[in-house]
Amino acid sequence: MRVAVVGAGYVGLVSGACFADFGHDVCCIDLDQSKIDALMAGRIPIFEPGLQEIVANNVRLGRLTFATEIAPAVRAADAVFIAVGTPSRRGDGFADLTYVRDAARDIAGAIEGYTVVVTKSTVPVGTGDEVERIIRDLRPDAEFSVVSNPEFLREGAAISDFKRPDRIIVGREDERAEAVMREIYRPLYLNQAPLLFTSRRTAELTKYAANAFLAVKITFINEIADLCEQVGANVQEIARGIGLDNRIGSKFLHAGPGYGGSCFPKDTLALTKTAQDNGISLRIVEAASQVNEQRKRTIARKVIKACGGSVRGMTIALLGLTFKPNTDDMRDAPSLSIIAALQDAGAKVRAYDPEGTDQARPLVDDVHFAQDPYDCAEGADALVIVTEWDAFRALDLERLKQTMRTPVLVDLRNIYDGAEVAQQGFAYESIGRPVAPTGA
Ligand SMILES: NC(=O)c1ccc[n+]([C@@H]2O[C@H](COP(=O)([O-])OP(=O)(O)OC[C@H]3O[C@@H](n4cnc5c(N)ncnc54)[C@H](O)[C@@H]3O)[C@@H](O)[C@H]2O)c1
Repeated sequence: MRVAVVGAGYVGLVSGACFADFGHDVCCIDLDQSKIDALMAGRIPIFEPGLQEIVANNVRLGRLTFATEIAPAVRAADAVFIAVGTPSRRGDGFADLTYVRDAARDIAGAIEGYTVVVTKSTVPVGTGDEVERIIRDLRPDAEFSVVSNPEFLREGAAISDFKRPDRIIVGREDERAEAVMREIYRPLYLNQAPLLFTSRRTAELTKYAANAFLAVKITFINEIADLCEQVGANVQEIARGIGLDNRIGSKFLHAGPGYGGSCFPKDTLALTKTAQDNGISLRIVEAASQVNEQRKRTIARKVIKACGGSVRGMTIALLGLTFKPNTDDMRDAPSLSIIAALQDAGAKVRAYDPEGTDQARPLVDDVHFAQDPYDCAEGADALVIVTEWDAFRALDLERLKQTMRTPVLVDLRNIYDGAEVAQQGFAYESIGRPVAPTGA
C-alpha cells in the first residue's frame, strides 16, 4: 500500500515508520521544515526508544521518505493518515481542530483516484463528517472515504504499542474503505491483534472513552492515597489488593502527583465539552479533570511540609520533569505546576531530567538545570522525585546525603522503600504510605 502521513510528530512519525516496517511505501509530511530537515539528515526530532533504528532501516530500504510538500505523496497514496495535533482550544478547552481542517483542505487539493482519508488524531465525535464535508466541498469530483482510526500508543513504549496493540479500532462507513484498512493492518491482523470495525462516530468516541476511563482510574487511586495518609493505610498495598481482582485490573493504579501529558488533560476536557454540547453531563470525568488539575499544584505542599512548613529561601532539587519516563514530552507535565508552586512559596529550584531538558527550558523561568542527579542535589534542602525514570531508582543515598544541605527525600512516585531510606539518615515522604521513622 502507498501511505501518506500528514504530521510527523509523536504519533505520525511512529505510525509512518511502523507502516513502512510492515512493508508499505510511506511518506511522512510535516509543515515544520526543521523537523523534515532533521529527519532527512537522519536525526529524530523526538525522543522515543527504538524509533531511530526503525526510521533508519526503512529509509535505507527506500520505504520511508519525508517531505514538506503534501501534494505528491497524497496524489500517489491509497490512504492518507491525518496525525496532526488537536490541542485544547484557548478559552474554552474544546479540541482545537484548526490543524485537522487545514490538513483536510490540503489533502482535498491533491487527491487523485480512490483515496481513504484516515483521521488518526484524537478528534471529537463528528469530526469525520466535517473532514468529509471539507473535502467534498473543495473537490466534488474526488473519489474518497473518510475513516476514523484513533491511536492508542503510549509515548515511551510507542513502537511496541503500535506493533503489538491491544486492539485496532477502525470506524468506517463503507466496505471499500474497510478493505483498504484491512490491507494496511494485515501484518498485525496476522499477529492476532483484534481489528474492530465500528461506525465512524463510535470509533471517534471510543478513543475519548478510553482516555477518560484511564484518567478516572488514576484520579481514583490518587484520592484513595490522600485518605490513606490520613488513616495510616498503604495505597500500594490497596492497589495490589484491588488490582488482583480481574474486574479492576492492576494497571493505572499507581498513586502519584497527578496525570499530565499531551492526551489525558486535553481529551478529558474536550469530552466533557462534547457532552455539554449534547445536553449530557459527564460528572465523573469532569470531577476527575478538576481534581487532577488541582492536585498537580497542591502536591507541592507535600514538599513544603517535608521541609518543615516553609521553603522560603530554600533550594529544592527536582528529579524528572517530563510527564512520564522515556519521553522528552513536557506537555502539561505535573513538574511545571510543582515548580511554579515551589517558586511562589519562595524556593529556588534545581532540576534534572535525562531527556526532557531541552523541551523544559523554554517553559520555566529561574530554574537551574543540572547535569545529573547528584549535581542536581548539590546544596539542596530537599530532593523530589517527580518522574520515575529508571536512572532514579537506585540512587547512591550516601553520596546524595553528602552533597545535600538537608537529607530530605520526597518520593512522588513511591519508588523507594521508606524504611531503607530512613535508615540511611533521610527524612522521607511518599504518596499514600505511612511515614517512615526519621533516620539518624
Ligand atoms: N502523543 C501521544 O502519545 C498520542 C497518543 C495517541 C493519540 N494522540 C493524538 O494524536 C494527535 C497527534 O499528536 P502528537 O503528539 O503526535 O502531536 P505532535 O504535536 O507531536 O505532532 C503534530 C505534528 O503535525 C504537524 N502539522 C500540523 N499541521 C500540519 C499540516 N497541516 N500539515 C502537515 N503537518 C502538520 C506539526 O508540525 C507537528 O509536527 C493528537 O490528536 C493527539 O491527541 C497522541
